[in-house]
Amino acid sequence: MTRIISQIFYGTLIHSLSLTKLSIIPNTLLGIDKFGKIAFVEENIINEQNINDILSKWNVNEEKIIRLTKRQFLIPGFVDTHIHAPQFPNAGTGLDLPLLEWLNKYTFPLEKSYSSLEFAKNVYPVVINNLLRNGTTTAVYFSTIHLESSKYLAKLIHEKGQRGFLGKVNMDRYCPNDYIETIESITPVITPRFAISCTSELLFSLSKLAQEYDLPIQSHLSENKDEIKFVKSLFPNLKDYTSVYEHHNLLNQKTIMAHGIYLSSYERNLIKKLKVGISHCPNSNFSLSSGICNVRKLLNDNIKVGLGTDISGGFGKSILDSIRNASIAKLFYLSTMGGANLVNLENVIGDERNILRVYVQGNFVSGTEFK
Ligand code: GUN
Ligand code: FE
Repeated sequence: MTRIISQIFYGTLIHSLSLTKLSIIPNTLLGIDKFGKIAFVEENIINEQNINDILSKWNVNEEKIIRLTKRQFLIPGFVDTHIHAPQFPNAGTGLDLPLLEWLNKYTFPLEKSYSSLEFAKNVYPVVINNLLRNGTTTAVYFSTIHLESSKYLAKLIHEKGQRGFLGKVNMDRYCPNDYIETIESITPVITPRFAISCTSELLFSLSKLAQEYDLPIQSHLSENKDEIKFVKSLFPNLKDYTSVYEHHNLLNQKTIMAHGIYLSSYERNLIKKLKVGISHCPNSNFSLSSGICNVRKLLNDNIKVGLGTDISGGFGKSILDSIRNASIAKLFYLSTMGGANLVNLENVIGDERNILRVYVQGNFVSGTEFK
């Protein structure tokens, strides 16, 4: 039995075949079935007769075709592998301090506000709408420590049709007395904020939870030199920052670590061996003066790399911005397929004004009519 085709696109298709190979296919017919899966890709179809043959083969009529102009093209959705949804109101502000001071002065006070569900209701829809408008079809979110606001964010991601990975932040030390929690957890992505703000006890219980429910894990790693020193003082018996997470069984093929700027070759080796993904967040690394991540080194070591905006350490809400800030033809791969590798997806330039329509699994989730 043939699959039921719900829509067809005709035009130029661009996608990554691998880290270094970009495929640009003009005059392509791409059919989507009623489940939102790609049913067929027919390349180089140049005359109407051939188009009609394919339509009748799939039993669809001409009205189902959306024809792109010569200046338009289809690309896979972008994957933002690291974004703090609650920090969105701060994006573009408060970038005068390095990480640890920045957290205390700007970030924790804002995140505290999400104890109010009303506050979350004013912000989270704006965040998701903005990401979708910018072509981010998959995002890996940090929320705050608040359960109700986090559950609301999860519901909203689902309602708006984005593919989302969401972790309620966990932390039980080195945070404000009124923005802290005792040990308990809830989330689909296990999210120890970072080694500084989690006791060993919390880290162990989070890894147990991840194992018990087979959940992905996300955190921050090796972002800032003072941070690394602080981690060393908190865990003096462990070799380095990466080893702190390894010791607590938090590193595996479902782990995403943001930043990874100052990793030693020993740490890179560990990350490679344990199949951990690195979310490269160039805008944030520049904005907080954290440092420059040598992505080429990570890629040469065959470490999985995706791109993240890290709002509001980074101020750019679009993965296109991460591409510009990361500066290497491999970037298209990193922003789509590379990111998808981090979140174990099977499938997966300008600014958002150039993104006309955004689809997730065949559903039109953001954008305007084709002109
Ligand atoms: N390290 C711990 N928390 C954060 C955060 O919210 N943003 C960034 N960039 N780094 C962190
Ligand atoms: Fe971050």
